[in-house]
Amino acid sequence: MSFTEQEFKEQLLSHYAHLHSHPELALEEHDTTAYIKEQLAATEGVEILAFPLSTGVWARIAGQDSKPAIAIRADIDALPITEESGVKYASVYPGRMHACGHDFHTSALLGAARILAKRRDTLRGSVYLLFQPAEESSHGGEKVAQTGILAQYGIKEIYALHVKNGIPVGTIEISEGAFSATVDKFVIRIRGKGGHGSAPQQCLDPIPAAARLIGSLQEIISRKLQPGTPAVISVTKVASGTTWNVIPEEAVLEGTVRSFAEDVTHVLHREIRLRVQELETEGYETTCEITSGCPATNNDGALAQRIAEVAERTGFIVKEQQPEMGGEDFSCFQQLIPGALFHVGTGNGGAAHNPKFKLDLNALSPAAGLLADIASEALAKQ
Ligand code: NI
Repeated sequence: MSFTEQEFKEQLLSHYAHLHSHPELALEEHDTTAYIKEQLAATEGVEILAFPLSTGVWARIAGQDSKPAIAIRADIDALPITEESGVKYASVYPGRMHACGHDFHTSALLGAARILAKRRDTLRGSVYLLFQPAEESSHGGEKVAQTGILAQYGIKEIYALHVKNGIPVGTIEISEGAFSATVDKFVIRIRGKGGHGSAPQQCLDPIPAAARLIGSLQEIISRKLQPGTPAVISVTKVASGTTWNVIPEEAVLEGTVRSFAEDVTHVLHREIRLRVQELETEGYETTCEITSGCPATNNDGALAQRIAEVAERTGFIVKEQQPEMGGEDFSCFQQLIPGALFHVGTGNGGAAHNPKFKLDLNALSPAAGLLADIASEALAKQ
């Protein structure tokens, strides 16, 4: 590499500071997209390709041969949170913050692009760079997968990283199989008959029915699944009523259902619907909409092994990834081709999706180097 290590580090920190201070929400990442394109255009050896969505970037670094082809993905969107981290490059926009590290992912991929472009004479194929919009909401991964670009460009494998606080810098976590969950959403409506708060006998009060339902939903996991099966049902919103002396017509419950396996999800959905329907025998009218979000991630065993080997060889400590009930739409790509996503330790800056979230940026340039090394190795092994 003709650039110095110090200059490389400083460039990545400047990418990060720029992106962190200018966060954009899902499908609104226009300035972020422009910034990424500008940086890639200035990197000799990177070719920006047509991308079928209005935000996000698709680019290629062609090595000696055009085939084989692999891809690295970074997500680029931020969250609707007002930043309270106190960092000097904090968000300039109230109500928007990179509180999940997608600015780190984007900066690391820009860095990997620079390394790979320098190395292109020795690359045994092409590396495609996917800067994906709307990971946090709005189904960005699914939208990109549906465009068909992975098949169109003959992509054989896809890799990505995600920052993780609570693990030291210099450590990564990777494992085979599922480590993030299916993310499904439910909305339940219970319609009774409203009236005077003093005359419940003339009404069909939806509030006690909603209260009983909330309790009985919590029995699904403890009574209907094999003990030890990871699953979550959370009722996260309860809405009913307007004032103290009126029995309302309707109660609405919203929440989320998560698991690692389709058969478990099937049981959870069935049992939720059953419990809602049972209220109809008491005269309530009900609806239960369950919307499936991204599936569980599923790391390919061979790819996970490759990440672990490359990381160990380049001086990282490698640990087993612990399953978590968060969602990650990288799973949409893993449904099409083998893929693996690993965690990069970023210190002790608190929980993601929190206004005080901070990252240890000493992890940034090693993460960029690791992405580049994984890509080179993946091509060499095709
Ligand atoms: Ni994230």
